[in-house]
Amino acid sequence: MLRLEGVGFAYPGGSFVLRDVDLELSRGEISALVGPNGCGKTTLLKLMIGLLEPVEGSVSLDGTPLRALGEREVFSRVGMVFQDPNDQIFLATPEQDVQYGLTNLGLQPEEVRVRAREAMEAVGIGHKSGVPVQHLSHGEKKRVALAGMLAMRPEFLLLDEPTNGLDPMGAHRFMRTLVELKGSGGMGIMVATHDLDMVPVFCDRMYLLDCGRVVSRGEPSRVFQEVEKIRRADLRLPRVAHLMEVLWHKDGLGSPLLPLTIGQARRAILGWGCRS
Ligand SMILES: Nc1ncnc2c1ncn2[C@@H]1O[C@H](COP(=O)(O)OP(=O)(O)OP(=O)(O)O)[C@@H](O)[C@H]1O
Ligand SMILES: [Mg+2]
Repeated sequence: MLRLEGVGFAYPGGSFVLRDVDLELSRGEISALVGPNGCGKTTLLKLMIGLLEPVEGSVSLDGTPLRALGEREVFSRVGMVFQDPNDQIFLATPEQDVQYGLTNLGLQPEEVRVRAREAMEAVGIGHKSGVPVQHLSHGEKKRVALAGMLAMRPEFLLLDEPTNGLDPMGAHRFMRTLVELKGSGGMGIMVATHDLDMVPVFCDRMYLLDCGRVVSRGEPSRVFQEVEKIRRADLRLPRVAHLMEVLWHKDGLGSPLLPLTIGQARRAILGWGCRS
């Protein structure tokens, strides 16, 4: 388990941007980190992989502080995909870039090729594996960065707005890949995201961050019922939930327990039919 206890953080010379953060990421779960711009999501992910050190509190991996494990072990067990793929890709082609980390792990050339190919196929970039990176679109680069980290098969994967900039099918397919990784590979996955519609569909837990503090946590089905907290943090409900909220408040249809996904809303609406 990757755990933060009582974490506070300030950039050098600045005031605290995170305060009193307690957070756990277990294997076999996808957790969402949501909150407005500047609330500290990226900072929190960097603390979880040891790129930043907390000013207060501790970050540990299976009970051992990251500081005691050392960079090399932490980076082999925890992977992070940055918001901007240009911060992550540094070789000439997707194939070379994705293979680079695997070669550094000391894997045999054949395994390097197979794993890199599988990862590129999983995120739909296999057909561009030999194209110069500077000729790729932003979304394509994003997929290359994701493939590079997936290929490493870390125990914990931290993703900073991974679906931002992907087309809708690409985003959906990517989230389904994460669901497979948490199931078959038992990976623990943390996704910082502004895509609130996908949180209740794909995520097991969520953390709501506002002004550097965790103001709500738990299953999306519970956290999204705290509508006031969501709106105070300048966020919104998933679109389906917003529709169901309007139907409840304006038309007296449904109940205050808001369905969050199309499937849940459909079941609720079919239930109204049975009552009439
Ligand atoms: N390198 C830095 N030096 C000083 N302050 C920083 C640095 N990086 C971020 N900050 C500040 O820390 C706060 C949190 O930033 P962070 O990038 O973690 O927010 P975020 O939740 O990821 O935002 P976004 O949704 O825009 O990605 C912001 O006020 C930001 O200005
Ligand atoms: Mg950010």
